[in-house]
Amino acid sequence: MKILGIETSCDETAAAVAVGDGKSVRILSNIVSSQIEIHKKYGGVVPEVAAREHVLNILPVVNEALEKAGLNRKKPELDAIAVTIGPGLIASLITGIEAAKSLAYAWNIPLIGVNHIKGHIYANFIESCASNTKNVICDKNFKFPIIILTVSGGHTMLILMEDYGKFKTIGETRDDAAGEAFDKAAKMMKIGYPGGPIISTEAEKYKNKSEIRNPKSEIQLPRPMINSGDFDFSFSGLKTAIRYALEEDKNWKNKIPEYCAEFQQAIIDVLIKKTINASNKFNVKTIMLAGGVSANKELRKQLKEQVLENNFKFSMPNLKHTTDNAAMIATAGYFKFLRNEFTPWQNLKVGCNLEF
Ligand code: KG4
Ligand code: ZN
Repeated sequence: MKILGIETSCDETAAAVAVGDGKSVRILSNIVSSQIEIHKKYGGVVPEVAAREHVLNILPVVNEALEKAGLNRKKPELDAIAVTIGPGLIASLITGIEAAKSLAYAWNIPLIGVNHIKGHIYANFIESCASNTKNVICDKNFKFPIIILTVSGGHTMLILMEDYGKFKTIGETRDDAAGEAFDKAAKMMKIGYPGGPIISTEAEKYKNKSEIRNPKSEIQLPRPMINSGDFDFSFSGLKTAIRYALEEDKNWKNKIPEYCAEFQQAIIDVLIKKTINASNKFNVKTIMLAGGVSANKELRKQLKEQVLENNFKFSMPNLKHTTDNAAMIATAGYFKFLRNEFTPWQNLKVGCNLEF
């Protein structure tokens, strides 16, 4: 069964073709046209600019995905089209949705609306193993229930997945998402956009240095809500804490790697502790990581270590499926296809604030 996935919720125009075998999904093509270079100079995504870029990119990206998958561009042998319907930026989402509707109508195939966050989760069901995969589940034969730590630019959630398509939110951020905190902290330090990967690289410089000289960092940031006893998060206080720390430190520009390492570690400590606590409470066997922040090297490494130490099984997406892409949307669509969850093209609506 072959599905075309389309994703345009933020600043990536993406299309992919996936083929499913019941439990896992193989990706035949995965094309992502990123707008990062365009939005960089504004320090964040400009919705109007993003929407215009999607309009320009959508058909070339879809065509490339079809060609790479060995399909005929005019009448491809596809079983359905899956498209992100939200949450995300309205004008960006509309481009993907309208393209998907038109193609589904023209090719006379069913349409499947996908929640972007669920798409991130389904990146774990793609048949490919994350690099450095020792002890990480690769067979995709997951036993439910599963606890999923979902961390992206717009969301930070702990989710209990009870079966394919059956999710319960057990905790979420009360203010900023983890990715948003990374982006805002980087903006304060004027080190670029998007902040997550830059902070990660800077933090690594500090770590490499400290392994040689073993200095103890004097910078101490809070671990918000780490002992709150529930599964919610809050990162806006951490953002304020780094702002004050930078304001009080005349020499901060010479200590950027150290600030980045401490900031990153503060986020990681909270994420890991709450994930392990939730997994114990809900008695699961498997823990998954999902969302754009799951590209973070230290989070991947430290979460994996803690998960295995606590005798859970672990899954994380391949790096290329961590940040926004359409392979994950095609995969989520595939599992909806198996349950016949289609939406007629006349009824498919955009949901910028779509609930999980
Ligand atoms: O999932 P995603 O691509 O888009 C949303 O759905 O929001 O996530 C983007 C977020 C950004 O905030 C970005 O800074 C963060 O993921 N991110 C990272 C890394 N790569 C991307 N955060 C930390 N470390 C990274 N390596
Ligand atoms: Zn995303």
